[in-house]
Amino acid sequence: MSGPVLAVDQGTSGTKALVICPERGVIGTAYAEVRPRYAAGGLAEVDPRALLASVLDAGRRALADAGEPVVAVGLANQGETVLAWDPATGEPLTDAIVWQDRRAEPLCAELAEHATTVRQITGLPLDPYFAAPKMAWLRRHLTRDGVVTTSDAWLVHRLTGAFVTDAATAGRTGLLDLDSLTWSRTALEVFGLAREQLPEIVDADGHVGGTTAFGAEVPLTGLLVDQQAALLAQSVTEPGVAKCTYGTGAFLLAPTGDRPRRGASGLVSCVAWRLGGRADYCLDGQVFAAASAVRWLTELGVLAGAHDLDRVGGTVPDTGGVTFVPALAGLAAPWWRGDARGTLTGLGLDTGPGHLVRALCEGIAAQVAEIADAATADLGAPLEALRVDGGLTRSALLMQAQADLLQRPVEVSALPDATALGVGAVARLGLDPRLTVPEAIPAWRPAAVYEPRVPPERAAERRAAFRAAVATLLARTP
Ligand code: G3P
Repeated sequence: MSGPVLAVDQGTSGTKALVICPERGVIGTAYAEVRPRYAAGGLAEVDPRALLASVLDAGRRALADAGEPVVAVGLANQGETVLAWDPATGEPLTDAIVWQDRRAEPLCAELAEHATTVRQITGLPLDPYFAAPKMAWLRRHLTRDGVVTTSDAWLVHRLTGAFVTDAATAGRTGLLDLDSLTWSRTALEVFGLAREQLPEIVDADGHVGGTTAFGAEVPLTGLLVDQQAALLAQSVTEPGVAKCTYGTGAFLLAPTGDRPRRGASGLVSCVAWRLGGRADYCLDGQVFAAASAVRWLTELGVLAGAHDLDRVGGTVPDTGGVTFVPALAGLAAPWWRGDARGTLTGLGLDTGPGHLVRALCEGIAAQVAEIADAATADLGAPLEALRVDGGLTRSALLMQAQADLLQRPVEVSALPDATALGVGAVARLGLDPRLTVPEAIPAWRPAAVYEPRVPPERAAERRAAFRAAVATLLARTP
């Protein structure tokens, strides 16, 4: 069946919905904001009803904008955000604990002896970022009632009545056996979740049911975790290239083909997608604070927002000796020190807003470069280029810093909404089994390419200064 599809990207700070026509491209768009609550102790939570309301609101307004009905729906999700809910009524029993939440830190410390087992089975380190530690924390501290799942399973249940999750989202829990793509009994026992009723694991392009939430009933034929949806939309499907999305955090994913590759560099080994019964895998590294670090500087009054990065950073020629490790929400791959906090060093009476902005851009870019190096080591071959998307790619300052520190071209996507476009492509694959992946995904073209402008020695010096700052901060973190 041909016709437009509704692609919904339910993210941390809001929901983006696109109506995508196979012939005419995007014909309708809408966005609905969501406001997670952040509190001391690393708490990050959100009312699940606000997530659902944003999906319905953005989806319906995108359809009104398009003025045409759709033939299918695709839904991308945040990945590691969890909640408990009543499967009989669909009502939430708790707030959703957002992927950024660190309250399961002590639980992970308690389970440390199982870290190697969990990583071997699931490809994931034992860290509160992932879903299982949050699910275990929620079971211990909030409620034993209902089911506890990632947010996608709840949203899909509300939309269709089905109780499912796609293989890539299941791979964000720490409970999925990466080889068999089934729930791991051993991992479930480690987290004390062996008695839980878990959603059925389905293909990203499986038919999971119909929804009338957006008007006449249409099938939900696309389900995928957001970073992997962006990877697909960026046409990064073979080893050799990686993508990085600069959103609330920054997430670099590098494909490894049809087998998981458990590297030694600290990256996550995970499912890219399972389409038509065939799984592809990728390596994944995370910078927990990217746009959220920009927001933090904004709230301090250093700049007016992300759109202001280049203006403020452009007032000075360099960082003036300031080094910023923006570990405002801890350090993820390759360090996995969620307890780390950000540091600013090299401040002087002459330090101004421009130096801080440049140091922040360098700090984000240096972390991404460390992740890219780790991917190179695990893959055994250098990455030829980095394809990038997300709001912060509008900053030429950040993108140039990225190309300089990576010493590779950085290709900025011409697609501003890669995640929604990716899950829209999956929904089309679900509708038409004869369609191939290259036919379903949008043609790749960069809107801009940043080439390295500094010599390798200068990049190496800047990276060494950043690594030294990380080492100092980790040495000081008890
Ligand atoms: O792992 C969390 C990440 O996928 C969330 O992405 O776009 O909601 O910040 P975003």
